[in-house]
Amino acid sequence: MSDFNVVTLGQFIIDKQVEFPYAKGELSRLLRDIGIAAKIISREVNKAGLTQILGEHGSTNVQGEDVKKLDIIGNEMFIWALSKGGEVCVMASEENDDIVPLEGTYSKNGKYVICIDPLDGSSNIDVNVSIGTIFSIYHRVSEPGTDPTINDVLQAGNKLVAAGYVVYGTSTMLVYSTGKGVNGFTLDPSIGEFCLSHPDIKTPADGKIYSINEGNAAEFPEGIKNYLNWVKETDKATSRPYSARYIGSMIADFHRNLLKGGVFIYPPTAKSPNGKLRLMFECIPMSFIAEQAGGKSTTSKERILDIEPSELHQRVPIIMGSPNMVDKVLEFMK
Ligand code: AHG
Ligand code: MN
Ligand code: MN
Repeated sequence: MSDFNVVTLGQFIIDKQVEFPYAKGELSRLLRDIGIAAKIISREVNKAGLTQILGEHGSTNVQGEDVKKLDIIGNEMFIWALSKGGEVCVMASEENDDIVPLEGTYSKNGKYVICIDPLDGSSNIDVNVSIGTIFSIYHRVSEPGTDPTINDVLQAGNKLVAAGYVVYGTSTMLVYSTGKGVNGFTLDPSIGEFCLSHPDIKTPADGKIYSINEGNAAEFPEGIKNYLNWVKETDKATSRPYSARYIGSMIADFHRNLLKGGVFIYPPTAKSPNGKLRLMFECIPMSFIAEQAGGKSTTSKERILDIEPSELHQRVPIIMGSPNMVDKVLEFMK
């Protein structure tokens, strides 16, 4: 690829603005600010292995500065990046019990609301395995200029304006959608820009990968147990047995399945009857991307994007991925 053919995230966002003629550029600026936060978190993630040398959370580093956990750094980075622009009035984060009204000069007038999981897969940080950041954007429902409330945040996924994720893997990628398909950008560290590398991502209708923490199998619903027996049978016509792939970072598992075809499942267990993953911070944004790429996402009882959220840190079971694979799981759940 010649450098002259590169489309940067910033250029792409400006080009796409014509698709939103009623918008005044706030969403474009907001997406740009997310890109900046993502680059800074990517830089910090790349240095994660050095914490042993520089100091760990709760300690001081060699310069005598306090060392923060990467999830906290990511959270603060978003608050900083989004407070400056003034497009966002309130943020909700997996790292905060309550909503966080932003305190930038213009934030009270901000039209948008953002939910984030600043660091997804945090247990993988210390072992150099891929992790991610997830974000979702809604229109506020309260009047601009007033104090935002929890109702600005507790909105169903079918009201989303945009959502996306950043995966810090062998390279750093930002994948997002504004409801008109999904596009992926790879960070070129030599120029410090996200460059369009995966235009108009479509997930395969079928796949051979299943991603689930099978260690919990004894606690799964009967339908899931039966499905897991089925994927292990030998059958040439349906390419079985399938391959098990489970990283333990939803973003990384999702991203692989999105590109290769697969199904990601986090079912209810005896310990977590609603599953483990959070509706607002993980399930809604990833379901939006899945559907925009031609995939499906459900709790087994309802479409994830149609759930009316009742609490910020609500958890739901999830079956998500290639449409034919999700349908197959659902056959076993009847
Ligand atoms: P987080 O690091 O944001 O708390 O999320 C971890 C989540 C998700 O990324 C992953 O798919 C899941 O936890 C793994 O859970 P199990 O270890 O129970 O399989
Ligand atoms: Mn997470
Ligand atoms: Mn997290």
